[in-house]
Amino acid sequence: MIVTNSQSPPLLVTGAAGFIGSCLVRQLIEHSDAQVLSFDALTYAGNPLSLGAALQSERHQLIRGDIRDADAVRAALMQQRPRAVLHLAAESHVDRSIHGPAEFVSTNVVGTLVLLQESLAYWHSLPPAERAAFRFLHVSTDEVFGSLDAGDPAFSETTAYAPNSPYSASKAGSDHLVRAWHHTYGLPTLLTNCSNNYGPCQFPEKLIPLVIANAVAGKPLPVYGDGANVRDWLYVDDHARALRLVLERGVPGQTYNIGGNAERRNLEVVERICAILDARRPSSAPHARLIEFVRDRPGHDRRYAIDSRKIERELGWTPQETFDSGLIKTVDWYLGNADWVRCVQSGEYQRWIERNYTAR
Ligand code: NAD
Ligand code: TYD
Repeated sequence: MIVTNSQSPPLLVTGAAGFIGSCLVRQLIEHSDAQVLSFDALTYAGNPLSLGAALQSERHQLIRGDIRDADAVRAALMQQRPRAVLHLAAESHVDRSIHGPAEFVSTNVVGTLVLLQESLAYWHSLPPAERAAFRFLHVSTDEVFGSLDAGDPAFSETTAYAPNSPYSASKAGSDHLVRAWHHTYGLPTLLTNCSNNYGPCQFPEKLIPLVIANAVAGKPLPVYGDGANVRDWLYVDDHARALRLVLERGVPGQTYNIGGNAERRNLEVVERICAILDARRPSSAPHARLIEFVRDRPGHDRRYAIDSRKIERELGWTPQETFDSGLIKTVDWYLGNADWVRCVQSGEYQRWIERNYTAR
């Protein structure tokens, strides 16, 4: 049950039951006195259990709702009167976007349009002081900038957009809408573009949780192409901390790049996970024997790298985890939460959601 009053209007977080959204909400409940209204459609990627202790907090409420449903969005905004919208809801997996791009355009582009329109109407309805304080924080990805070659400079806030996958094209579309709603209508927007996240509660279809889950189960560890594609990795708690800083101190209309200064080739990442598992589960070592090179992803971006000097300089943010310290925490979380993995892989949790959460 949320307690709304004039002193503490809530933060509305879309996609709050997903990987990054749930980490952000857990942090907000644990490390601030914020009221949080989680708004999530609870697709295959959204799991209320990922919200952990926040689920029981008096300062938190979870609404099952779709960002494409203007009535549901309007009701949440007008009834709960948030001081900010933190927009993380999205279809987020590149491989799924290759097989079914329409859902990505629908959620990421049309859903963001609905959220912007409803937020704008709500913003106009606010008294002057609350209107001045309101923020719309749009959470995006470095993939909108396209692919780098070895030796190219890292993506900065002024790098031209060149998205290559249906996922990144749909995120780029949503970023452009956010920019336009600021420029044309004056909506106080903030935009972040972050590199690849890893950590607890990530659906085991993305590289790191998939490799951990498969290695534990003795299944093949699929490495696309030659395994030399490079990603910059950021521990999810560091991303959530950056988002909280941007929300409180970012300048409306600005964009901020967020990265981990941790570029790694995919094969290196997989081998490092195997080495950590060898130490934790020596009886199944060497886990690297499970590595299999498989057919490459079509249009596979070669390299992403992020220049995060702006957020470091202007907001004083730096990542607290190194790639290795974050990876050890991540592997240990998956080893300690085998039930979570089993439930999301079997679809058991989705049946539980249908019994327990009705859509608005
Ligand atoms: P995720 O797939 O784990 O979670 C997405 C959440 O959005 C889920 O809870 C899902 O139920 C919800 N959702 C999906 N469609 C919805 C809809 N129509 N209405 C309401 N809710 C809906 O994604 P994530 O990895 O947590 O990513 C969150 C955001 O951060 C996304 O916008 C993504 O583009 C961005 N991002 C992700 C990464 C990364 O490495 N994961 C990096 C940079 C930026
Ligand atoms: P992924 O986690 O899907 O994130 P993104 O495509 O958004 O960067 O993939 C990370 C990298 O790992 C990417 O280069 C594709 C590669 N990859 C594999 O080699 N094998 C896999 O099974 C998966 C899911 C990804």
